[in-house]
Amino acid sequence: MTGSNHPLAHLSREALEALVHEAARAPSVHNVQPARWRFEPGGDVILFRALDRRLPVADPTGHDVDVSLGAAFEGMAIALSRLGLALGAPAPERRAQAEGCEPVVRARVSAGGTLDPLAPHVLERRSYRGRFSRRGARELASARLMEASDVHVIDDAADIRLSSRSHDAATWRFESRPEYHAELWSWLRLSRRDPRYRRDGLNADCLALSTPERLGAMVLLYPIVFRLLGHLRIARHLVSEAGQVRSAIALVLFMPRRTDSAFDVGRRFYRLWLEITAAGLHAAPMSASVDDPITRAQYEPLVPADRRLANVLRVGHAPVGAAAESYRLPTAELLV
Ligand SMILES: Cc1cc2nc3c(=O)[nH]c(=O)nc-3n(C[C@H](O)[C@H](O)[C@H](O)COP(=O)(O)O)c2cc1C
Repeated sequence: MTGSNHPLAHLSREALEALVHEAARAPSVHNVQPARWRFEPGGDVILFRALDRRLPVADPTGHDVDVSLGAAFEGMAIALSRLGLALGAPAPERRAQAEGCEPVVRARVSAGGTLDPLAPHVLERRSYRGRFSRRGARELASARLMEASDVHVIDDAADIRLSSRSHDAATWRFESRPEYHAELWSWLRLSRRDPRYRRDGLNADCLALSTPERLGAMVLLYPIVFRLLGHLRIARHLVSEAGQVRSAIALVLFMPRRTDSAFDVGRRFYRLWLEITAAGLHAAPMSASVDDPITRAQYEPLVPADRRLANVLRVGHAPVGAAAESYRLPTAELLV
């Protein structure tokens, strides 16, 4: 980057890696981490999609991967803001090339950015999939989530109970399909000896599994065994999240405009999650409830006509120290 006066040109390799490292903290579906980055000498950033990081069964249209890419882009904007830099509007990019990737967007970095107020919460945010501890909903009010036009909060215990049941029904309609379960299995890292345990996917710590649960899951979720247990009507209990959902102090319905692209939805999704973190709360998305038409229809009366239900997050307090940080790919692999 020598010869350029652009602020990016003065950043060391370490500083660029730190930006990518922070952007990678954004949530991604199944922790597949599809985002790859390039910093151009003239001061542009290009976001690529890694073509081998897809979920053909669970996400056949690539919608959730696009949401994940939008979240990563927002993560890059937040990371740059720490350095007083601003990331401009993303423009579709078609020409740039990188092995195993396709370009998604290009955006201009400029001086004059101010620290994003959500930046302090990037490293605190994490999915928490265990049971929430029971405490009041004071933080929910302070989060002012209820005031956002793209959010609807359900905090009535009876309604949350109903949602816990319909979420399990939705989960089972997906998980009873062998190809769906096999794909999920390929992103589960249950054995600590798995070389991918500290790279990507959903590992036992992030799934909040105790050691007996982890060992049990290694056997019982194994696709052939799981299929057999499905016939015996046992498998659906293994993937139940009803207890976790019931322990939530609220369900946060995220409802972007129908006209928003998946990429823009991802940008806002990440900010919403950081706002939840800023309020001292933990969350876990419940995508099955949204992807399943029967369960989604139950939320439809709550969704204004010009909006769509993009996700439902269960929100509450994780017991102290219980929310494990999920792993990311080495930063060097994310720079192309
Ligand atoms: C579009 C999208 C959908 C997601 N759906 C689910 C879900 O249904 N259940 C779940 O437990 N986590 C879900 N997640 C969370 C990811 O699994 C999580 O972000 C990833 O494993 C990284 O972990 P972290 O959020 O702790 O950084 C989703 C994330 C995204 C971006």
